[in-house]
Amino acid sequence: MTGIDPRALRSAFGSFMTGVTVVTAMDDHQKPVGFTANSFTSVSLEPPLLLVCLAKTSGNYDVLTAAANFAVNVLAEDQTEVSNTFARPVEDRFATVKWRRGPNGGPVLEGVCAWFDCSMHQQVDAGDHVILVGEVQAFDSTPAPGLGYVRGAYVTPSTGADLLTSGTDLVVSAIIIRDGHVLLVDSGDGGSGLPEAAVKTDGASAALTALIAGTDVPAEPGFVYSVFEDTGRRRQHISFLCQADAGVPSRGTFVPLSPAALDDISDPAVLSMLERLSQEMELGQFGIYFGNQNRGQVRPVLQGD
Ligand SMILES: Cc1cc2nc3c(=O)[nH]c(=O)nc-3n(C[C@H](O)[C@H](O)[C@H](O)COP(=O)(O)O)c2cc1C
Repeated sequence: MTGIDPRALRSAFGSFMTGVTVVTAMDDHQKPVGFTANSFTSVSLEPPLLLVCLAKTSGNYDVLTAAANFAVNVLAEDQTEVSNTFARPVEDRFATVKWRRGPNGGPVLEGVCAWFDCSMHQQVDAGDHVILVGEVQAFDSTPAPGLGYVRGAYVTPSTGADLLTSGTDLVVSAIIIRDGHVLLVDSGDGGSGLPEAAVKTDGASAALTALIAGTDVPAEPGFVYSVFEDTGRRRQHISFLCQADAGVPSRGTFVPLSPAALDDISDPAVLSMLERLSQEMELGQFGIYFGNQNRGQVRPVLQGD
């Protein structure tokens, strides 16, 4: 026992940006299996080695640890949905992607920015994970930008660069969460949406603080959950995940993060973001902020850090 809080550690581990991969292999019945992994790293050039860490609780543990070959697919920036599919308990993850067998037999996904088809070189037992070390037998890469992941959110190089360089308006919105509910306000177009405000010269942080203060619910500004471009309204949008304390909102209502309760959200981008949040809360993919991902329990987002 080290006295280290594993949830806090998971949050700290998640505080730097990584790429996102899908690790694949063929099972005994020649069916492809795969899971999303950001623990991928290159290891050696001579011989050409890479590694990825696989949770011992993974449903693919037996197949992957028995596999003679596996492939690592580095996702491109437009493959957020592929990442989600391979991180969720989907019946057939390969039904929604195009794939083929690589030269060494590992399943290679279409549209990735790089893939490495490996033979199993070594497995290292490492706590609640096993480290799979692969020897690269074949690979390919493209100049396409890769998908990034930090603090439980996807980021892409181009959204980040656009944000810094574009002349469009910048808007912040607050995803104010309490006990599995999110605060929705009247969006002014007959539907509902998140509290949002335009960023002025004093910056996004000041805009967010003012936004939260305007709801009359004490809330802790959290991490950036989503950065996206609203091309229709020519603006950049940053959403912050915020954990609320007790208090009655002066505007809007806390509604459950469920499809029925989110039904009248007018902005499809906000709707899809909250659907993603709902799914990720169920899976517990937020490090410190959530509990048991295997049980899909919804827990407070920023409790006690
Ligand atoms: C961005 C991201 C990175 C992940 N990285 C890893 C990882 O490196 N190793 C791992 O075992 N699980 C990782 N996971 C979790 C698995 O993808 C997830 O638990 C998945 O459901 C496992 O599927 P399986 O049980 O069918 O193998 C990650 C999930 C996401 C969203």
